[in-house]
Amino acid sequence: MSKPFLGKRILVCGKGGCGKSSIISLMAHILRDETYRVIVLDGDASNPGGIARLMFGSTQGPKALIRFFGGRKKVECPVDDPAPLTRINDTAPITEKNIDLAEIPPEYFMEKENIFLFQVGKIEQFCEGCDGPMSKVTRDFIVKGQHVQLIDVEAGIEHFGRGVEQNVDLILVVIDPTFESLLIAEKITHLCSQMGKARVYTVLNKVQTKEMESIMLAELKKKKIETLGVVHFDDELIKAGLMGTQLREGIAREDMKMIIKKIAENL
Ligand SMILES: Nc1ncnc2c1ncn2[C@@H]1O[C@H](COP(=O)(O)OP(=O)(O)O)[C@@H](O)[C@H]1O
Ligand SMILES: [Mg+2]
Repeated sequence: MSKPFLGKRILVCGKGGCGKSSIISLMAHILRDETYRVIVLDGDASNPGGIARLMFGSTQGPKALIRFFGGRKKVECPVDDPAPLTRINDTAPITEKNIDLAEIPPEYFMEKENIFLFQVGKIEQFCEGCDGPMSKVTRDFIVKGQHVQLIDVEAGIEHFGRGVEQNVDLILVVIDPTFESLLIAEKITHLCSQMGKARVYTVLNKVQTKEMESIMLAELKKKKIETLGVVHFDDELIKAGLMGTQLREGIAREDMKMIIKKIAENL
């Protein structure tokens, strides 16, 4: 079986609440079922719950990765210091000497049936500073080996300003049925074309009716943005989001399977 996602870093972005974390969680489980080893990186420092609940139904996430790299004392915001991330006692950039899973102590990740979850760090203290240092970890945490890496980022577009997308192969923009989401998608597509190398795909999410879908597609067409597919509104996701439980089978998962198939064909 060919595995087109092997070695790829895929970043999922979009407006707040559009469904980034839900889409990542669905993707992780689908790809795992397709026998991939999946590494999920929670790069959203401002969402205290993180993605652990959706991924594993767990209330607690793993230890912050930024601590493995020396914390705020060592890691700077990529805008102030664009130099690549390094290990605490090493000067070799992670981008050249990628991370081996075996070198990371177990408290820094959660693992369940071939899905590995890491989180870069969360804002914990009043006035502790911006989340730029965590963004550098998101940018450069590249794990070597045979797997696919999925990256969840904070809402909006600030991560583009910081160049977090520098080392990704594919960007998935999630668009929910709101005017703001369409605007953000337009902006992101523009920023991606400036960046050059990564492929960019959009996915519609929380679509409830055919009419809603047609309106969204027409608006995107006006903006010359192509869409890979539609994830329908799914009560199962609402329930999981409310109860803090793991996502289960449902229409959204079936839709996402089709979208993954399409991405694979285009890789
Ligand atoms: N396809 C969908 N159908 C129904 N609800 C959804 C869908 N996708 C996401 N949601 C719900 O929308 C809310 C925000 O989703 P979430 O994945 O946390 O978004 P984000 O990570 O972009 O902030 C959650 O309550 C989630 O359950
Ligand atoms: Mg999220």
